[in-house]
Amino acid sequence: MMPAGLAPLIYLVSAALFIMGIKRLQSPDTARNGNSMSGLGMLIAIVVTLLDQQIVSFEVIIAGVVVGGGLGFWMARSVKMTSMPQMVALLNGFGGGASLLVAGAEFLKAGMPNGVPLAIETNITIQLGTFIGSITLTGSFIAFLKLQELMSGKPMTFPLQKTFNALVFLTIAALAVYQVVVPGHQAEIFYGMVGLSLLLGVLLVIPIGGADMPVVIALLNSYSGIAAAMTGFVIDNQVLIVAGALVGSSGLILSNIMCKAMNRSLANVLFGAFGADGAGGSSKSSEGLTVNEVSVEDAALRLAYARLVIIVPGYGLAVAQAQHVVRELADLIHKNGGEVKYAIHPVAGRMPGHMNVLLAEANVSYDQLVEMDDINPQFPRADVALVIGANDVVNPAAHNDPSSPIYGMPILEVENAQSTIVMKRSMNPGFAGIQNELFYHQKTSMLFGDAKVSLSALVSEIKSL
Ligand code: TAP
Repeated sequence: MMPAGLAPLIYLVSAALFIMGIKRLQSPDTARNGNSMSGLGMLIAIVVTLLDQQIVSFEVIIAGVVVGGGLGFWMARSVKMTSMPQMVALLNGFGGGASLLVAGAEFLKAGMPNGVPLAIETNITIQLGTFIGSITLTGSFIAFLKLQELMSGKPMTFPLQKTFNALVFLTIAALAVYQVVVPGHQAEIFYGMVGLSLLLGVLLVIPIGGADMPVVIALLNSYSGIAAAMTGFVIDNQVLIVAGALVGSSGLILSNIMCKAMNRSLANVLFGAFGADGAGGSSKSSEGLTVNEVSVEDAALRLAYARLVIIVPGYGLAVAQAQHVVRELADLIHKNGGEVKYAIHPVAGRMPGHMNVLLAEANVSYDQLVEMDDINPQFPRADVALVIGANDVVNPAAHNDPSSPIYGMPILEVENAQSTIVMKRSMNPGFAGIQNELFYHQKTSMLFGDAKVSLSALVSEIKSL
């Protein structure tokens, strides 16, 4: 055992490392270091916890670390970048499940023959930790199934759904209150409450469309943090309280940022069934409008002799895995004397920071990545805006069509560039399911095809000039 009072002090150091680590995540060039800092904080916390309390034997702990660490390593190595949201969903679910198990074990332990009756405040946190942990577990699992396309991504709705959900919630609340106010151990009621909470997790996530899952995942991530913090109170572990509170609050902030960037309220994401029949439909018809196609040769000429090219990456760049070849193209333009910048929309792709991570993988320099508010005034100066697999985040309807479902969403103002080349495979819409008038502008040329194939062709063409 450690000297009394030392563990909380070391936990304080861990907590400080978590906070400084999160602060460093603010910028891409300090993010890796921030990640390591928080990781070090967690390592210190784990070592201190192991030394401080002989909870289970070290053999069991080492076996857990080997199995869990091995599985985690394998998952992280094999998961595709575009499947990252699913993986985060799954890991969130496990976090919620862990909190459920710890809170449940403490509750059941108190009911054993030699168990110590629970103090009222501990009992309250057990009920809260169990409830939040349970909905996080099943909610995250549904999010995973939707994103992995193992179940339909469409919102699943049924009559009186919200009323039914509210009834389930009220029953859970009644059972939890009963367990707190009526002394004594009631395992059956506890199991009933866990069952209903697991059901509520499913019910809350099925009406949300697959494409809104990233916001849901950020929210569930926040829930898993809150559940962990509750568990920290239950087992009286300060660092778990701090870490849980940090995850809880940062998940909530992230959900809020994503909602703002889509110009939607959190309530609309959670209860609006966006993407259900009728919702998110096309607001304007494209009948009578014509599209200008451009050949690889012409596009290559325009890019090779441009002074400023602003590349707008979107979800299609991630699907095509074209991050390395886009960098190769940018290097060629640069070699020809042109300047290249990347315009980063906060919700481009399907997860927060998707484009930053993707481009970082190809070692694109951070100072070439420019945030939306800073790049928008620069579009009029750009000879070419090269839109690669982006659609909704460049749709001018967000500014000028009040009937559009994305009206009001901040966008990258590509239409202000001298000319635009859009690379995608077809005229199919993006996530919001709506037409994009940018594709029909006079200044816009479409280069159809898979982004990686087209970019490789552009690279070869420019090299041969
Ligand atoms: P989208 O609007 O979804 O458009 C992506 C485009 O990529 C599609 O139109 C598709 O057209 C094209 N594409 C797909 N595969 C391609 C390939 N292999 N090669 C070339 N093009 C390909 O993407 P965006 O502009 O990045 O916008 C993101 C959307 O997701 C926004 O509506 C946003 O609100 C939503 N969303 C984002 C997040 C986060 S956190 N990022 C969270 C929730 C929702 P083709 O099929 O014709 O090729």
